Amino acid sequence: MKNIIITSLFFMSVSLVANAQTPIYQDRSKPIEQRVEDALSRMTLNEKIAVIHAQSKFSSPGVKRLGFPDFWTDDGPHGVRPDVLWDEWEQAGQTNDSCVAFPALTCLSATWNPQMSNLYGKSLGEEALYRGKNMILGPGVNIYRTPLSGRNFEYLGEDPYLSGKMVVPYIQGLQSCGVAACVKHYAMNNDEEYRHQVNVVVSDRALHEIYLPAFRAAVIDGKAWGVMGAYNMYKNQHNCHNEELLMKILKGDWNFDGVVVSDWGGCHDTDQAVKNGLDMEFGTWTNGLSLGKTNAYDSYYMASPYLEAIQKGKYTTKELDDKVRRVLRLFFRTTMNSNKPMGFLCSESHYSAARKVADEGIVLLQNKNNVLPIKFNRTKHVLVVGENAIKMMTVGGGSSSLKVQREISPLDGLKSRLGSNVKVDYERGYVGDTTGSYNGVTTGQNLTDKRSADQLIHDAVEKAKKADYVIFFGGLNKSDYQDCEGHDRKSYDLPYNQDRVIESLSKANKNFIYVNISGNAVAMPWHNKVPAIVQGWFIGSEAGEALADVLTGDVNPSGKLPFTWPATLQDVGAHKLNAYPGVWRPDHKVIDEEYKEGLYVGYRWVDKEKIHPLFAFGHGLSYTTFKLSDLRESSNKISRDGNITFTVNVKNTGKYDGSETVQLYIHDVKSSLDRPYKELKGFKKVELKAGENRDVDITIDNSALSFYDDRAHAWTSEDGDFEALVGNASDNLPLMIKFKLQ
Ligand code: BGC
Repeated sequence: MKNIIITSLFFMSVSLVANAQTPIYQDRSKPIEQRVEDALSRMTLNEKIAVIHAQSKFSSPGVKRLGFPDFWTDDGPHGVRPDVLWDEWEQAGQTNDSCVAFPALTCLSATWNPQMSNLYGKSLGEEALYRGKNMILGPGVNIYRTPLSGRNFEYLGEDPYLSGKMVVPYIQGLQSCGVAACVKHYAMNNDEEYRHQVNVVVSDRALHEIYLPAFRAAVIDGKAWGVMGAYNMYKNQHNCHNEELLMKILKGDWNFDGVVVSDWGGCHDTDQAVKNGLDMEFGTWTNGLSLGKTNAYDSYYMASPYLEAIQKGKYTTKELDDKVRRVLRLFFRTTMNSNKPMGFLCSESHYSAARKVADEGIVLLQNKNNVLPIKFNRTKHVLVVGENAIKMMTVGGGSSSLKVQREISPLDGLKSRLGSNVKVDYERGYVGDTTGSYNGVTTGQNLTDKRSADQLIHDAVEKAKKADYVIFFGGLNKSDYQDCEGHDRKSYDLPYNQDRVIESLSKANKNFIYVNISGNAVAMPWHNKVPAIVQGWFIGSEAGEALADVLTGDVNPSGKLPFTWPATLQDVGAHKLNAYPGVWRPDHKVIDEEYKEGLYVGYRWVDKEKIHPLFAFGHGLSYTTFKLSDLRESSNKISRDGNITFTVNVKNTGKYDGSETVQLYIHDVKSSLDRPYKELKGFKKVELKAGENRDVDITIDNSALSFYDDRAHAWTSEDGDFEALVGNASDNLPLMIKFKLQ
């Protein structure tokens, strides 16, 4: 007994001594800020320099001596990119790095459902956790300014409000896993072709009202832990070390407490990086995609050159300590976070999340004579045509390219859903790009077809004549100069002669359905001759399943376009005003791209110029019909610190259960500055059984009435009359109610 007491006294005193000696930074009960300060005070100058730049293609070091693990980033944003070698872009050859590919962000945005964003972010975070990644390089919120931009598929569309509302829950879901978001590409990386040379010239109003709000929402509402600086320049300074964007706006006005990560190869200068807010330097001397300089890390701008400059007295450690504090905070949020949930890779829950997002994001653009959904009782023979019915789309496109565990093609998805009672035939129709590899990942598909273009059309038409339905899967793909990073599309037209194939098939069969696979709008000169048009996006692993869900009516489509679909490029402000891709300076090193259309992007331009786009922003049909009526308001006045709730009744007047998205736009009747005719300021998706009706509330506050006053350099609103316009698309707003700001 005596021995037991002595032994326990001994252990108690040992543990008391141990507790007394536990450094604050290791003490989980202490607030993060205190742990950050403590860790900072223990770090040597070399250790501080080490944590602010990469040590390999995608990682940066932790602090070995103090027990902070290495920090691993990875692309983003649609799935967790496969591992490359330490210092090369070659595949690491891992067999455990296949993932679930989620739908591209344009499709997510088309759901107009923030809950889908949250599910997406959480599922992706779980995949990242399992793969040992601490930061996902995404989501992207650059605004869709021209349909030629190669990277629009990675973003959330043209509208700052919609992008902001959709990005916040994605970040929250992802970060709830202890995996940091790195919101990109801050800012105005709106086209790809000369992304390293572009200097954007934009008005203050367009900057604050169009190009920054989604980033602001990501930082202020989403509390993103990381932001990636863009390659391009603004005010002649690269955005990875841009004084106004990073120091004044992001870290000043928005109080961002996370890290600014350079895009891969986006840092160009030690002095600017030190002073203008860059916190972590990655990918220097690469183009981000392929090129690389061997083991360059020690000579990065924020490595030896910075260290030596401090040692020589050029800088104190003031800026360095601020950067390191942010990095340590990031460590406590991620690698050192002891509340992380479990990770999963390729779990059924992730496939189901991918399919849900896809089901809700597919947009039914046109459906004359209710040709869709496929009528099973009248269908014995379906002809599927087109390269995009069989081509894997998860490989390619640039840094978002993935190595998937599975990707169900549209053809396979349809075959399995239509079952053995329906004969499903396939014809190629055209040959586009038969290659299928990116960065060492190959699809393994042999897509070669030796038939001539005429023969391909002839063969497809012959079969089309005999089928009950012809479903053509065309559009773009992930090859260079299409929906792909690094370049823009060269033309608005569909590539590979597809227009001819479509015209011929639509003549041969009246039940012709065109499914467009892309992240961008494309020209459709034949749209009047085609009964049904579906926007099928890049949907990832569950592409075939989700497309079959919608085409057969298992799922009633409810997606809405997150961008305007112009008939021609001349209907886009940037093109009409010759404001893309810009003007080269005489030295041919910098191209100035002046955003001459200012605020008038997408539907804002359409309203101003009274253009009829092919399909409007917010447009999307359903197999059922809805009626919106009885618009009411909680008051006909709003004060600057108050709010108003608008209520509208939505009734499902058709035969199918379905979902409708109520959209609310605000029109400022009179304003001292020029304003777009209307702007989206609220939306809500509602699910209704056939025949059911429900009241839907949307509440706005003063921020919905405000604009950026470039005279005062501040957001402001003006007393007077406003109108709330309510409907289900930007070109279908049948209800209006007036109110006053007082
Ligand atoms: C892209 C980034 C990406 C990075 C790392 C760059 O080329 O612009 O979006 O996260 O490479 O792959």
